[in-house]
Amino acid sequence: ASATATVAGIPLSLVSLVTLTVQNSALTIVLHYSRISVPKDKSYNAASAVLLNELLKGAISLSIAFRNAVAGTASTSGRDYAKLETGDSLDYRRGGQGGDGWDPQRIKAGARRLMGEVFSRDCWKLSIPACLYVVQNNLQFVAASNLDVPTFQVTYNLKILTTALFSVILLRRRLSPKKWFALLFLAAGVGVVQLQSSTASGSSSSHGGHEMNQTKGLLAVMCACMTSGLAGVYFEMVLKGSKADLWTRNVQLSFFSLLPAIMAVFAPDVSLFGGASAPSPVTARQPIFANFGLWAWAVVSIQVVGGLVTALVIRYSDNIMKGFATSLAIVLSFCAGIVLFDFQVTLSFLVGTAMVVASTYLYNQPDAPRKEGYTPLPST
Ligand code: C5P
Repeated sequence: ASATATVAGIPLSLVSLVTLTVQNSALTIVLHYSRISVPKDKSYNAASAVLLNELLKGAISLSIAFRNAVAGTASTSGRDYAKLETGDSLDYRRGGQGGDGWDPQRIKAGARRLMGEVFSRDCWKLSIPACLYVVQNNLQFVAASNLDVPTFQVTYNLKILTTALFSVILLRRRLSPKKWFALLFLAAGVGVVQLQSSTASGSSSSHGGHEMNQTKGLLAVMCACMTSGLAGVYFEMVLKGSKADLWTRNVQLSFFSLLPAIMAVFAPDVSLFGGASAPSPVTARQPIFANFGLWAWAVVSIQVVGGLVTALVIRYSDNIMKGFATSLAIVLSFCAGIVLFDFQVTLSFLVGTAMVVASTYLYNQPDAPRKEGYTPLPST
């Protein structure tokens, strides 16, 4: 069913990949601007933004999962029930169209069904990517606060490497020499960009009166790359290795995110998060959504869209294709960075970016099936 899913006749996998590309570019720029455009003491709490992001994603996923569950109770016999058991949300929807309306009986049955699915025996599995994503989403703010837009975007592309590494470990995916070469080429490209960036600005720089610590930013990016690769591959493994619906899995993910996200809001300061650009912990004097202006809401909205689209990409495509979308985002954000932040175009930056994009392209070229020897997990 996933191969034929479309939106206005366009494959859903393509729609979600294009949307993710635009979302990636927009997020990097808006996130960076939201942190550096205001004085330190007027900045919003990043951990609160992460919490809000999880609450909104959870609410949206819950409404879709609930709608699907209610629609699914329309015909719980014969062919439709068999489809429904596969957990394909599109089939749920179809079942509901011929349905018996939203009568209280069905709503009750749908709610009961959804509760059973969300709190199923294997729901605990989502606690692992949930915690990892909360850490990653907080680190993203540290990185965006301490690095310029293109450096953040390009170094964050290293998550293609970590995604490949965890795909080998968790999904037992075998990578051809060509793909490993592409990955090394990618790492080299990222290095070229980092080199020119550090010689141009030093290890610590100021941007519009906002102190930026490049070492801290790079450390945050590296950690975020690790959690991104592990969480993404783990989520793919759980999603494609079971029959549960994507939206049910998303509800479970958001549910398990809440506790760590709340803990991050009230956590004491630690060195990586410390300093003016950090997701400062909430004090008794400061409400958790203090200084939550238009830019903060823009960041949260873009992150919510990104989270939902990421889930769709993993469901209808995979983590590797997600990496390809990210490489396109580099080109877009680079162009936007020139216009918005007066970023200096240097030859080495262009060469590095070209290497990153070329290697991502090479990595995504399919090998002959016999050579690669990759057996995909069953996709239901
Ligand atoms: O770095 P990466 O592209 O893997 O980031 C994925 C983002 O998507 C994270 O912010 C994560 O919280 C979000 N996500 C989500 N729901 C999923 C998978 C990822 O909200 N099912």
